[in-house]
Amino acid sequence: MLKSTNQHGVHSPFVYNLVTRCFYDKTSFPEYQIVRTYRNEILKNNQSITVKDLGAGSRVFTSNQRAVSAIAKHAGITFKRQKLLFRMMRYFKPDSVLELGTSLGMATWAMALANPPATIYTVEGCKATSEVAKSYFKKFQFKNIRLYNQTFTAFFENFPQSKIDFVYLDGSHDKESTLALFNQLLPHAHNNSVFIFDDIYWSKEMTEAWKEIIKHPKITVSIDTYFWGLVFFRKEQKKQHFTIRV
Ligand SMILES: C[S@@+](CC[C@H](N)C(=O)[O-])C[C@H]1O[C@@H](n2cnc3c(N)ncnc32)[C@H](O)[C@@H]1O
Repeated sequence: MLKSTNQHGVHSPFVYNLVTRCFYDKTSFPEYQIVRTYRNEILKNNQSITVKDLGAGSRVFTSNQRAVSAIAKHAGITFKRQKLLFRMMRYFKPDSVLELGTSLGMATWAMALANPPATIYTVEGCKATSEVAKSYFKKFQFKNIRLYNQTFTAFFENFPQSKIDFVYLDGSHDKESTLALFNQLLPHAHNNSVFIFDDIYWSKEMTEAWKEIIKHPKITVSIDTYFWGLVFFRKEQKKQHFTIRV
């Protein structure tokens, strides 16, 4: 289903192509099986780690002592979204990718597999979690992932890239820090950059942050997929908002 906030919506070739050639691409890529294998492996990992809560807090966990499998299940990206990220990597072919909120690295692998020439910077503030992610990156021999065990604030103090092509924000799920990160990322955006905000309906606050983001004058096209919010900076597009069920 493709629904637009105005009847001219689907007439944007940029959005039309993205929807038909990427969002709705039904190809069964062989890499999906690899993504699945990694998922299953992590979902079986009963190692217990002590995590440091840095985000908006968990609605599931009451203790900081958590099994890796439980983190993967409750805080990890779903398989469906891993596949969508995979397709977006293939479609946009970004050279530089930034993920804020690595957790166990499930989204990171999907992106790394889809686009081996890209450099994927990924940031995780919790040491124990990042150690687990690091061990999997090593085990599966990912060469294009650079993992930073830092808070987002510390990471931005020495941001390694002046311009970034693709950003996946999956860490802070509160309004203030989402808007602060957006403002920190803005100078690193260029005309073809893509930013994805995870869980824009996680809370009323997150939805407010999203609504503020899409109003920003630098944002032209914005797409609400009911779970991710995507923004684009393309000056050749008129400012237009789309709602598309993926
Ligand atoms: C929802 S999880 C990320 C899921 C992951 N992208 C995946 O693919 O499964 C969010 C992660 O962001 C980290 N995080 C939240 N706020 C942070 C901050 N301010 N600095 C660094 N890491 C942060 C948390 O420790 C948590 O592991």
